[in-house]
Amino acid sequence: MDKKKIAGDKAAEFVKDGMIVGLGTGSTAYHVVNAVGEMVKNGLKIKAVPTSKATEEQARALGIPLLTIDEVDYIDIDIDGVDEIDPQFNAIKGGGGALYREKVVADISKEVIWIMDESKLVDAIGTFPLAVEIAQYGYKQTMQKMTDFGLKPVLRIRDEKPYITDNGNFIADLQLGAGFDIADVAKKLTGMVGVLEHGLFLNTCKKIVVGTDNGAIIKENPAK
Ligand code: 5RP
Repeated sequence: MDKKKIAGDKAAEFVKDGMIVGLGTGSTAYHVVNAVGEMVKNGLKIKAVPTSKATEEQARALGIPLLTIDEVDYIDIDIDGVDEIDPQFNAIKGGGGALYREKVVADISKEVIWIMDESKLVDAIGTFPLAVEIAQYGYKQTMQKMTDFGLKPVLRIRDEKPYITDNGNFIADLQLGAGFDIADVAKKLTGMVGVLEHGLFLNTCKKIVVGTDNGAIIKENPAK
């Protein structure tokens, strides 16, 4: 069976009646949204906050009752995918371009669970490019500032045009390489003019669910 589906199906078991649920974005989160949709069809009473327009569409088609981010004060459980995660639970997210909404949802969640196949587990993050959401206005200057800091930004292009996020912004993908100084890069990006948010999610999730050939493995974050 698809390892992403194994992880998504297992994580859906943590969703209980009455919860407000954050629904992540991407090819792994797709499976948890399907699993939650099935549970709703079978009588589960929840409300969900999607982290992207794509997830919103999928959830709506499945009949999952939705709330906007502005209609909630907190989220009980947020289940999302991840691009890379190290043994300290430092992660890169944003390969799907939804990092800002994903971070806002994670930030107000009592519990964050990430789902993945084994390919996402790494000794050191940074091989996968770090997505940074930047304003269109002045993006060349923002990227120049990143270059001056040695962050190697590449403007994300889709269909020969700059990729545009659900929030109407561009994405700069930083080619940092495994073993980069996480705290230093986070510090440089936080508060940089033109940067809305970056895809470093540090000590955010409580547990991960990894789909393997032998079923799902759950690992708890000892620091949470
Ligand atoms: C989207 C994300 C995704 O969760 C991340 O890219 C993982 O995606 P996938 O499950 O398709 O590998 O952060 O912004």
